[in-house]
Amino acid sequence: MATTSNGRRVAIVAGLRTPFTKSGTTFRALTSQELGKLVVAELVQRTSLEPKDIDTLVFGTVVPSVLAPNIAREVSLLPLLPKGIPAVTVSRACASANQAITDAADQIVLGHADVAIAGGAESLSNVPILHSRGFADAVVAASRAKSAPKRLSALARIRPRDLVPVTPAIAEPSTGETMGQSAEKMAKLNHVAREEQDQFALRSHRLAAAGTHDGRLTSEMMAVYVPPKFDTVSTTDNGIRSDTTLEQMQALKPVFDRRYGTVTAGNSSPLTDGAAAVLLMSEEAARASGYEPLAFIKSYAYAALDPGEQLLMGPVLATPVALDRAGLTLKEIDLVEMHEAFAAQVLSNLQGFESREWAQRAGYLHPVGEVDRARLNVMGGSIAIGHPFGATGARITMTLINELRRRGGQFGLMTVCAAGGMGFAMVVENAG
Ligand SMILES: CC(C)(COP(=O)(O)OP(=O)(O)OC[C@H]1O[C@@H](n2cnc3c(N)ncnc32)[C@H](O)[C@@H]1OP(=O)(O)O)[C@@H](O)C(=O)NCCC(=O)NCCS
Repeated sequence: MATTSNGRRVAIVAGLRTPFTKSGTTFRALTSQELGKLVVAELVQRTSLEPKDIDTLVFGTVVPSVLAPNIAREVSLLPLLPKGIPAVTVSRACASANQAITDAADQIVLGHADVAIAGGAESLSNVPILHSRGFADAVVAASRAKSAPKRLSALARIRPRDLVPVTPAIAEPSTGETMGQSAEKMAKLNHVAREEQDQFALRSHRLAAAGTHDGRLTSEMMAVYVPPKFDTVSTTDNGIRSDTTLEQMQALKPVFDRRYGTVTAGNSSPLTDGAAAVLLMSEEAARASGYEPLAFIKSYAYAALDPGEQLLMGPVLATPVALDRAGLTLKEIDLVEMHEAFAAQVLSNLQGFESREWAQRAGYLHPVGEVDRARLNVMGGSIAIGHPFGATGARITMTLINELRRRGGQFGLMTVCAAGGMGFAMVVENAG
């Protein structure tokens, strides 16, 4: 993308997120729409962006509201924005905000847009609770009945078991396997020991605690006044444990395979609420309107594999393609930011990067190579910071870019694994 035939480059100009809070806690009264609106309103205000200059808004969410499925449009109807901004909701599971960013970037490259807002939001505190099929069938039959007795007889078909609510599972519709079970499978297939996972999770918490303490992580965030009373203000992620120890982590019971498993609440990302957004501009538009680009999008790639295989190995297939498209090798990358769904997934992906077999599956002779741990997730990752599915991609983008600039590095690589066996990778270049 850095060298498009029409010469247009996509600049990331700013980004912001809410704190990420464990679901059922601080943000439990906020829907994903509301979280999305908060972050976009603050992003527009902080950047002094002229609302009429926004050409498009792309937003991602993974568990949409049944009442407002196009979250992007609801966010674009914020009172401070004009009503004429076209908005589209995208879904690529945990890479949904990345999809929003690359869709917006593509619009800019095509010359269809100069200024775009992209991001995502998730409220896992507010997932839709569904009725069973039996209950739904009876209610539909009753609503179609032509007389009161027929309506009553339709409703009389409802049995107690039909009243049990159905909650969406974090499971693959095609295989029935949950994310956690998939992580277990990957740990077993790739021989990733429990201790290695716990050590990696501990590292995530330690680094995220350090990034919070010195203000690098908190500088990415806005403060949120918490409804319904608005008498408390959330200013920091609430899942990061500065005091956790390896002994505490090792004492946790496995969750997804209670007998032989290694994946625990400690080495998994928690269910989380939050939102994040970035402001993208064509380089020309940024310079013309006095915005300093933070980074340019150099390349990106999506990939997929059979969800019944190793569900969260998508990054291993997407990364060599993104590097190839950028004309770079891993050695030239200064920082790597990998979404941490589970420690078992990150450690399996890291193994995959070094494997000739996985390289060949992606269509390359040579493996991506060994990721230098000193350059990897240097402020921790989703295990500690949290993972609001639809928002994480935008959070990772800004964490990577901000830290790349602080360190004076040139290139950054990010990866995200996603349900459906999908993976994402993107290379950014420091514009400073
Ligand atoms: C793993 C999972 C089921 C755990 O859920 P949970 O049981 O509600 O998690 P909790 O935060 O309550 O943690 C359980 C216990 O472990 C403890 N714990 C968790 N992390 C810990 C840590 N790092 N150190 C010490 N203790 C820890 C908690 O304090 C809690 O202890 P308690 O029962 O005494 O209160 C849930 O987080 C999950 O489903 N995660 C995966 C989400 C997913 O699939 N994402 C998709 C990835 S793309």
